[in-house]
Amino acid sequence: MNKYVLSPSILSADFARLGEEIATVEAAGADWIHIDVMDGHFVPNITMGPFIVATCRRITRLPLDVHLMIETPERYIEAFAKAGAGGLTVHVETCPDIVGTLRQIKSLGCRAGAVLNPETPVGAIQPALREADLILVMSVHPGYSGQSFMPETIAKVSEIRKKLDALRSSAWLEVDGGIDLETLPKMKEAGATAFVAATAVFKNPEGPAAGVKSLRALLG
Ligand code: DX5
Ligand code: ZN
Repeated sequence: MNKYVLSPSILSADFARLGEEIATVEAAGADWIHIDVMDGHFVPNITMGPFIVATCRRITRLPLDVHLMIETPERYIEAFAKAGAGGLTVHVETCPDIVGTLRQIKSLGCRAGAVLNPETPVGAIQPALREADLILVMSVHPGYSGQSFMPETIAKVSEIRKKLDALRSSAWLEVDGGIDLETLPKMKEAGATAFVAATAVFKNPEGPAAGVKSLRALLG
C-alpha cells in the first residue's frame, strides 16, 4: 500500500457508465474507491446503499472506502460489510458509543473509520483515536460534491496529526471535500495521508484519468 492514498468518490461519476468510470480511475492509479452513502436525514441528500457497494465489489479490485452519512449506522454496518466494503467510516455525530461502533466494524473484518463534520470540535474524536484505523476530517459540509473547500479545516488536520503521532498511531488521516490541485498540498502539509476527490477526478475537463494522474502526481 502506498504511503499516501487517493480515493476518488463515485458521487460525481456518470452512473450510466459506472463500470467504465471505475475501470478508468483504477487503471490511472486510484488507490481506493470512495462511496458516499447518504440517508436524507443526517444529510439532506439521498444516494447509495449496500447494493451499489456490492456492484462496485464485482467490478474493481480496489478497496471500497465507504463513508456512511446516515443516522444509526450500527444498524447497517453488517449489510455494508457483507456487500464488500473494505473500510466503513461513521460520523461521531451519529454515534453515541463511537468506540463500540468502531469495534463492531473491526469485528466484521473492515477498516474502521471515524469522521467529524467541519463544525464538530476535535475533542469529539478524542475517544476514537486509539480505536480507529482511519480518521476522516470533512472539509465541506457533507451532502454534496462540488462544494468549496473550507480552509479553517486545515488547522484541524494539523491538530489531529499531532494527536495521532503522540499516540504513535498508524491510522490513516483522510480529508474529504473540495480536494483539488490547490487544496491537496495544503492538507498533505498539515498531515493528511488519504485524499477523497469527486469533482477534481470525475468532472476534470480532461477526463477522470487525467484527474487521478494530476492528483496522484502530488502524492509521490
Ligand atoms: C460530501 C462527500 C464527499 C464528496 C466530495 O458529502 O462526503 O465525498 O463526494 O466531493 P468533492 O470532491 O467534489 O468536494
Ligand atoms: Zn465522502
